[in-house]
Amino acid sequence: MKYAIVTGASKGLGEAIAKRLINEQIAIVSVSRTENEDLKKLAQEKKTFYHHFSCNLSLEKEVEEVFMFINHYIFEKEPEEILLFNNAGIIEPIENVGNLDLTPMVRNIKVNLVAPILITNLLFKEAHLASTPIQVINITSGAANRPIEGWSVYCSSKSALNMFTKTAAIEQKEKKTKNKIIAFNPGVMDTKMHETVRTAFKDAFKEIDKDKEYKKKTRIVQVEDAANYLIDLVLSGNLENGKVYHMKEQ
Ligand SMILES: NC(=O)c1ccc[n+]([C@@H]2O[C@H](COP(=O)([O-])OP(=O)(O)OC[C@H]3O[C@@H](n4cnc5c(N)ncnc54)[C@H](OP(=O)(O)O)[C@@H]3O)[C@@H](O)[C@H]2O)c1
Repeated sequence: MKYAIVTGASKGLGEAIAKRLINEQIAIVSVSRTENEDLKKLAQEKKTFYHHFSCNLSLEKEVEEVFMFINHYIFEKEPEEILLFNNAGIIEPIENVGNLDLTPMVRNIKVNLVAPILITNLLFKEAHLASTPIQVINITSGAANRPIEGWSVYCSSKSALNMFTKTAAIEQKEKKTKNKIIAFNPGVMDTKMHETVRTAFKDAFKEIDKDKEYKKKTRIVQVEDAANYLIDLVLSGNLENGKVYHMKEQ
């Protein structure tokens, strides 16, 4: 059986990814601070495996403990393949450099970058022993390649996530493993994260007006479309190791 670990499956893109995977009869391990009851119900209806683990991804010790447990739990079931979606992410702090506070700055780097690195590392380690193929999908952003005023920490964490993806992919190719690691930029989606952007202080985020224009011109991607595009890609079995995919390519 295929297993998928989805971080941030409680809402937004993560929820849509988990729903599509449940419909594909892929077993789901959901990881976030809160649980999404709809996912649980859908899995019951579809008679698919679903388990939620509560974890705060900004606390590295907790991440290590929870994922060591998750890995043990999944590998015991002798999975045919494991898909890891490092999807959970936060945009804050939205603030100019010089006005950044330490706590939200560090939290952003921990959730967006440290947690995906830590989780991938633990999974590759365990997979090596069990020779189970792993596909890692790191959810990135267009902001990884484009400086946006007020978003210095988010742009930096996503840019570093892309570089981690490319580097880890080279290593896996060199080792001739069956593991693949890619990044996926879903485009601008109307989720809770986007709500945070829209309510940010104008001084700190000059692009707000442009963002409102985005909405008017309906350049907003529906989470279901992004999830379907991504899952079609992953299930095609043709992922190019180390590539940063963009929703816009469709
Ligand atoms: N929205 C956009 O326009 C957009 C554009 C490009 C890229 N992205 C990327 O797409 C991904 C999903 O974003 P989204 O828009 O779906 O965001 P969202 O609706 O705000 O959902 C974020 C998810 O991350 C989880 N999360 C946040 N902090 C966490 C923490 N400390 N510990 C554990 N889980 C945590 C949340 O779960 P809990 O609150 O239950 O913990 C939630 O499930 C992110 O990586 C984001 O950077 C989004």
